[in-house]
Amino acid sequence: MPTVVDRGLEGVVVGSTQLSNVEGVVGRLTYRGYDIDDLAPNATFEEVVHLLLYGHLPNRHELEVLKRELGARRSLPEPLINAMQNVPKTAWPMDVLRTIVSGLALFSPVNAHGEHLSDVHSAIELVAKLPTIVAAWDRIRRGLNPVDPRADLSQAGNFLYMRSGKVPHVIEEDALDTYFVLLADHSYNASTFAARVTASTRADVYASITAALAALQGDLHGGAASAAYHTLTEVKSAERGEQYVRDTLNRGDRIMGMGHREYKVRDPRARHLEAMAKKLSAHVGNSKWYDIARSLEDASRKVLQEKKPDNTIYANVDFYTAPVLADLDIPGDEFTCLFACGRIAGWTSHVLEQLADNRLIRPQATYDGPPAGPYVPIDKRAANGARS
Ligand code: ACO
Repeated sequence: MPTVVDRGLEGVVVGSTQLSNVEGVVGRLTYRGYDIDDLAPNATFEEVVHLLLYGHLPNRHELEVLKRELGARRSLPEPLINAMQNVPKTAWPMDVLRTIVSGLALFSPVNAHGEHLSDVHSAIELVAKLPTIVAAWDRIRRGLNPVDPRADLSQAGNFLYMRSGKVPHVIEEDALDTYFVLLADHSYNASTFAARVTASTRADVYASITAALAALQGDLHGGAASAAYHTLTEVKSAERGEQYVRDTLNRGDRIMGMGHREYKVRDPRARHLEAMAKKLSAHVGNSKWYDIARSLEDASRKVLQEKKPDNTIYANVDFYTAPVLADLDIPGDEFTCLFACGRIAGWTSHVLEQLADNRLIRPQATYDGPPAGPYVPIDKRAANGARS
């Protein structure tokens, strides 16, 4: 029987998880049995971090304990701040984030065998520190000194505070908090799978999260948020949406922030982010980004439907991320970093879940290179490497 090659592992089940469930046909996403439709308007990101890492929503006391630990772990080691000060100001924020996260391992405690600990506290450490890295680099590249984190603010509120030096308006803090809730986990997506593959070799949580960050950056995954923002800036006005879509598809390119491997209907996170984008645009008194995004989504659906009447390409989570983060005044090239600041909750929980019941992840590939043959000594090799 011929071997079936599953390119892209589409539809292949490679493991199980208790963390989140993506029901792509009906458009439902749950974290440990809680629908994001309930979590997004009701729970804070800190409650979701607790849900994912500890297995249940916290009571008031448990939430306070977690918030205290997050607050206490936000500061970065001084040498890593100094390292960022010496990076070219043109460096891409995702490159800086990935490099500094990897550097955190250098300052983390080790056990008697010299190994870093991969436990719930190192997970909380990473959740706490990622926004500090992103905000510090944001200021350093603008020629400003980083602002020290505050332990009394939420993850979202503290991030916005560290960027601007001002405690944010509650609408802005809520918007970013909801964004983090919606981004917190998404089953075996590419970056989470990269984290689990790395953890399965018994690499530690720092190595696993560095691998996840590397996998997130491409524009078929988390990089789509920055790409979607770039699209909004290119389209410039809501009236130009349809022409932009036609030109893009005629060139054979894709509309960034549209389409999803799992969802065959609109990504449930897009609905919440769209509502948030609308609310924020009213708050900032300018609906430009929201209007362009709305017109672009409508135009994409219309033109894609014309091209293929049964197409299932709808807005994904990255699409309305663009107007939300743009209205929070976050630069477009930092959007993927913000994605990571939410997804770190899921990534670390997946690493702990993998380590708790580990088996090395090692798939197979068919070989379609040249057949086995004799070794050719160097003096007998042709210029093109041919054997004879
Ligand atoms: N714009 C236009 N056409 C698209 C798009 C899009 N955004 N997405 C898919 N298609 C088309 C493809 O061209 C292809 O058409 P064809 O059958 O005529 O060749 C068809 O839909 C199927 O595409 P695939 O790439 O096979 O579908 P897959 O399941 O692998 O795609 C993906 C999922 C990679 C997300 C894709 O929809 C895409 O490239 N979207 C744009 C990038 C993006 O937004 N990524 C973020 C995803 S969400 C996340 O990772 C957080």
